[in-house]
Amino acid sequence: MAGTDQLEQLREEALAALGALADAQALEAWRVRYLGMKGAVKSALKQLKDLPPDQKPAFGMLANRVKQDLAAAFEARKGDLVGAQGRRAQAVDMSLPALPLRLGHRHIITRTIEEITEIFARMGFTVAHGPEVEDEWHLFEALNMPLAHPARDPLDSFFITPSVILRTETSTVQIRVMESQQPPVRVVCPGRAYRPDTLDATHSFMFHQVEGLYVDEGVSMADLKTCVNQFCGAYFSPDVPTRFRPHFFPFTEPSAEVDIGCHLCAGSNPTCPVCKGTGWIELGGCGMVDPNVLDAVGYDSEKYTGWAFGLGIERMLMQKCNIPDIRLLFENDVRFLRQF
Ligand code: DAH
Repeated sequence: MAGTDQLEQLREEALAALGALADAQALEAWRVRYLGMKGAVKSALKQLKDLPPDQKPAFGMLANRVKQDLAAAFEARKGDLVGAQGRRAQAVDMSLPALPLRLGHRHIITRTIEEITEIFARMGFTVAHGPEVEDEWHLFEALNMPLAHPARDPLDSFFITPSVILRTETSTVQIRVMESQQPPVRVVCPGRAYRPDTLDATHSFMFHQVEGLYVDEGVSMADLKTCVNQFCGAYFSPDVPTRFRPHFFPFTEPSAEVDIGCHLCAGSNPTCPVCKGTGWIELGGCGMVDPNVLDAVGYDSEKYTGWAFGLGIERMLMQKCNIPDIRLLFENDVRFLRQF
């Protein structure tokens, strides 16, 4: 009998759909679809009037059974679903303390810059900043690098136009400070610098430096060494050894590179991963400001002398905190950054 088969099929389909429901909302949609005023059961019943009289009683009885079965199954399922949701709601214990709010904090580089500038502030240095996009005058000429100087090779800097360049060092800020004030000058200038270096464990195309500059009458190399030693003692540890190694920089004469002793092996391990067996780690450069630089900013180089330094901030931080790869500092992985 086509009519009763259809009813059986409807029941099966409805029960299967009911079993698959996930929440009370879906349950209500199911109710409307099968048991509602315009639902499937109601519309199946409409066939009754068109059936031959001998089939009517059986069809009518089955239709009622299907309707009752579905209604009963609906109630049972409602108990399951609403009950489960209710139990889940009760599982929230309102008397428990709230989950801790995860607050962010300043990046470790920012905090290192603060720590470093604070140490210099105790020695009487103020802080100055300058632009990261520079002109040729501040990046090259005033720093005693005339047009033919090899440091002006286009491959060594990010040129925006032939005369607009991302600064490759924070030494530019020395010039800007001296242009804006008369001696005595005692500043530190932290900030970003950019070089077209290939990214690896110790190189990045963007990194941070802190520049130092002290200009006054009678300033000597002895002041420079004392100041840098004091700084290293305060930032690393009071007994950290330092070394000044002769070097060349266009804007200082004489010039030196500053090294600290390797904290890991102190030079005893020829295969030390930190110092490569040399016992020393380079932090940056320094020297007595070249008279040409003083002249370029209009200072009287007969009257004034000065010294300057530029130290790598990531390098110092990585040494102090044993961070093996510079990329960790810039990838913004909170699992790493949260440690600091
Ligand atoms: N600007 C140099 C560099 O990035 C570091 C440096 C050396 C800065 C000597 C100075 C200095 O102020 O006097 O390699």
